[in-house]
Amino acid sequence: MWSRVELVERPEPGEVVRVKVQGLGLALANHEGCLFALEDRCPHAGAPLSNGSVVEGRLVCAWHGREYELSSGQCDGYVGVASFAVDERADGVYVQTEPRTPSPAGSP
Ligand code: FES
Repeated sequence: MWSRVELVERPEPGEVVRVKVQGLGLALANHEGCLFALEDRCPHAGAPLSNGSVVEGRLVCAWHGREYELSSGQCDGYVGVASFAVDERADGVYVQTEPRTPSPAGSP
């Protein structure tokens, strides 16, 4: 199911913001003009990934630096996070609330 994201402002390239969609907390990141959505909880120690940084197509956790691929949620050598498809439409940003890659940790 696609759900519209309530955004105050679309994140600028290199920015990440926390959004809530259908009860899911997501990190919505802008990499070179494209938006990506990952679950907003680092499986290492629970940091909000929306506090992280966008670096070369990955979202880097602010606490201990694990790096998650924006396109898939995968993390080299560690448990990844769920990723969600994003669609920008004339009336706003939409996220598909079923993850395209489920969280290996079992959530959301
Ligand atoms: S909480 Fe994210 S790397 Fe440790």
